[in-house]
Amino acid sequence: MKVDDVTTGMTGQEIVDLSRRHTLYEWSAQSAVDPIPVAGAKGCWFWTPEGKRYLDFNSQLMCVNIGHGDERVVRAIQRQAETLPYANPFMATEARARLGQKLAEIAPGDIDVFFFTLGGAEANENAIKLARQVTGRHKILSFYRSYHGATAGSMMLTGDPRRWAAEPGIPGVVHVLNPYHGIQRGWDSTSQALATLEETIQLEGPSTIAAFFLEPITGTNGVLVPPDGYLQGVRDLCTKHGILMVADEVMSGFGRTGEWFAVNHWNVVPDLLTMAKGLTSAYMPLGAVGMRRAIADRFADQVFFGGLTYNSHTLACATALAVLQVYEEDELLDNARRMGAVMKQLLADLEAKHPIVGAVRSIGLFGIVELVTDRTSMEPLAPFNGTSDAMKRLGRFFRDEGLYTFVRWNTFFANPPLTITEEELRLGFGIIDRGLASLGR
Ligand SMILES: Cc1ncc(COP(=O)(O)O)c(C=O)c1O
Repeated sequence: MKVDDVTTGMTGQEIVDLSRRHTLYEWSAQSAVDPIPVAGAKGCWFWTPEGKRYLDFNSQLMCVNIGHGDERVVRAIQRQAETLPYANPFMATEARARLGQKLAEIAPGDIDVFFFTLGGAEANENAIKLARQVTGRHKILSFYRSYHGATAGSMMLTGDPRRWAAEPGIPGVVHVLNPYHGIQRGWDSTSQALATLEETIQLEGPSTIAAFFLEPITGTNGVLVPPDGYLQGVRDLCTKHGILMVADEVMSGFGRTGEWFAVNHWNVVPDLLTMAKGLTSAYMPLGAVGMRRAIADRFADQVFFGGLTYNSHTLACATALAVLQVYEEDELLDNARRMGAVMKQLLADLEAKHPIVGAVRSIGLFGIVELVTDRTSMEPLAPFNGTSDAMKRLGRFFRDEGLYTFVRWNTFFANPPLTITEEELRLGFGIIDRGLASLGR
């Protein structure tokens, strides 16, 4: 086999069999995994070697925001690979220099210094270090309904059940109840939710708390859009107690909600902001932690104790620069807002038509449907941290019909690329509509 041919020519079944035989799939018992073999992708679509096409309603893992196969980005990667594929993190490169400058331009408020990582978990890991070093405190608060990554520290920040198997992890992480308590109990008001947070801060001791990490709009744990005033209230409480507010925008950033960052919906400036996914639209692995100028200034004389061989990787930085240019050239934030309005209506239509829809939530092209057995009991169609025959059948229906999306517990997501057209959105919701009808409830 020639080097050029190392990844061509296998059938879908061969790819699946070998992948399962020699590689470990994440978050799964290996006998249960059933991967789709992917041979190529363009726009909102991907396909198998045999040509079965899927409409990508989850932007893969909520990350391919600009859509698949954008040739402008591919060319930028090729050019960077030809010029300088790598330089170590102690060097200065044009890709690193320009990306720092560009992110400072689009990040909220005076967040204008960035530390580059390979993904979201490492961004949060370094944010923990920064927060502890800057405040001299050790405790970290985060939500129960949250996901922050799977490395040692970020796994402990994670509030959802993916954390349990890794316990006991790093000490000092305290979880806080979210404003949302599940489909049956619903939402706290802004003042109730802030009172819960303030009580936790008091009980833990404000002077021991370095930071509060939160997804401004919670992602995999339910696309939870906080009530108005909540994020401003969090900002005020953090400021009052000298606690750093850390916005994890790994999933909610880069146009997903119709703004560069979700905090912009409420004009809140966090002290640290972590990002990944949409930063490169997953064309290369890259994450970052952004910090306000005053925090960065602390490291003028103090050493920052953190490092990675692939920090500020030139291929990743060049990719991000090209991807950011695509968001702007193609006005994708605008499209996310316009198509987000269409999607909101399509979600409302599903809710009006199907009694098993217990709730729909969306902001921009970040959407979710929660299913229930009936609207009187509002019992979730699958239990917390579990699945059910009905949810499995729905997932199977989507897959058979060529709709790819994330089905989790009693929910499924609608997070298409920001390039999606109204026609594609309607096509996807048509499959969802038939899928819900097929459950016969
Ligand atoms: C909000 C949030 N933070 C952090 C992460 C972890 O990012 P990564 O998987 O790139 O380490 C994720 C991944 O889904 C995420 O959704």
